[in-house]
Amino acid sequence: MKIDTLHYLARPDGIELLELIDQRVLPQQVRFISCTDAGSTANAIRDMVVRGAPAIGITAAYGMALEAATLVRTFRGTARKTNTRATLHGISSEEERSKPFFRAMAVARARLATSRPTAVNLFWALARCDEVLAGLGAKSPDVVARALLTLARRLHREDVALNRAMGAHGAALLQAGTRILTHCNAGALATAGYGTALGVIRAAHAQRKITNVWVDETRPFLQGARLTAWELQQEKIPATLICDNMAASLMAAGKVDAVIVGADRVAANGDVANKIGTYGLAVLARAHRLPFYVAAPLSTFDLALANGKLIPIEERAADEMTGYFGKRWAPEKMRVFNPAFDVTPARLVTAIITERGVLSKPSRLNVARHVV
Ligand code: MRU
Repeated sequence: MKIDTLHYLARPDGIELLELIDQRVLPQQVRFISCTDAGSTANAIRDMVVRGAPAIGITAAYGMALEAATLVRTFRGTARKTNTRATLHGISSEEERSKPFFRAMAVARARLATSRPTAVNLFWALARCDEVLAGLGAKSPDVVARALLTLARRLHREDVALNRAMGAHGAALLQAGTRILTHCNAGALATAGYGTALGVIRAAHAQRKITNVWVDETRPFLQGARLTAWELQQEKIPATLICDNMAASLMAAGKVDAVIVGADRVAANGDVANKIGTYGLAVLARAHRLPFYVAAPLSTFDLALANGKLIPIEERAADEMTGYFGKRWAPEKMRVFNPAFDVTPARLVTAIITERGVLSKPSRLNVARHVV
């Protein structure tokens, strides 16, 4: 089954939409949420309708394109009046129309940029949009809107190709009979399709190398239990769900051969931010002499940050921990600490798998050699 994380469509009435599979209700329900502008797109990112670093980035790019299309429609309605006024004042109608458009686009960008802080792919995608806006600054809003949509579609297409490349590079590292442990969801749902860490697992499974995938449930939002478990079932890849606190005993019992995760941001020295709990797994993997792999596209690298301590770590709402789906289990008024990510130091990472190949022993030098 093809997992349609996000798709853009233009309705016959001219309204453009981004449809997102609602990841909050999977796997019990498969329902879609429509975004029509930057505001609704930013809300979908903030509220976890869509999540996972690459998926967030592509969604934000579509959010910019949708906002531009909405503004073009709005301004078109007022254009006739403006034209008359502008001609009277000797201002070209193009100039008159473009200024409020670019002002509104800056507000939209700011809204998207504050939706979630940790995954650098969001800021990477917005920077690609900035390049389009700057390059076409003197052009009409219609031209800019079309260019932003072309960009979003390109990022969408390219992401699947990158993931397939990562899959091939990563699968080559694994032996036949591998029992691999993964955390969170770095699959088709976290990307435009195929996945990063799950992409490697998919490719290795196609080569008949995977005996079992240990799926960490991934407290508190349960991306593993809900999303990764569902994806692996769809693909008929052998998998077993475990609680996050079972990894140590499984490793001690010799039931895990390797760990693979995705990433939300990789600093210039190779430190990796990923879902809370990843660091613990890396420590355990080292203690049990197991390889610890990270699969992440180059858009997840943030060379502006010298090390992982500088990566902003999102703290999410208390109610994600005190209960789920309206069911509360913690006592009322309980103080809660809910960081969504942690940082794994580069020294614990065996290799980072990117679309370019395998970056072994990440360090400042090795990252620079691989990325630049
Ligand atoms: O809070 P989430 O669900 O957005 O966190 C996602 C992760 O931590 C993933 O492992 C990461 O984004 C890599 S996705 C290919």
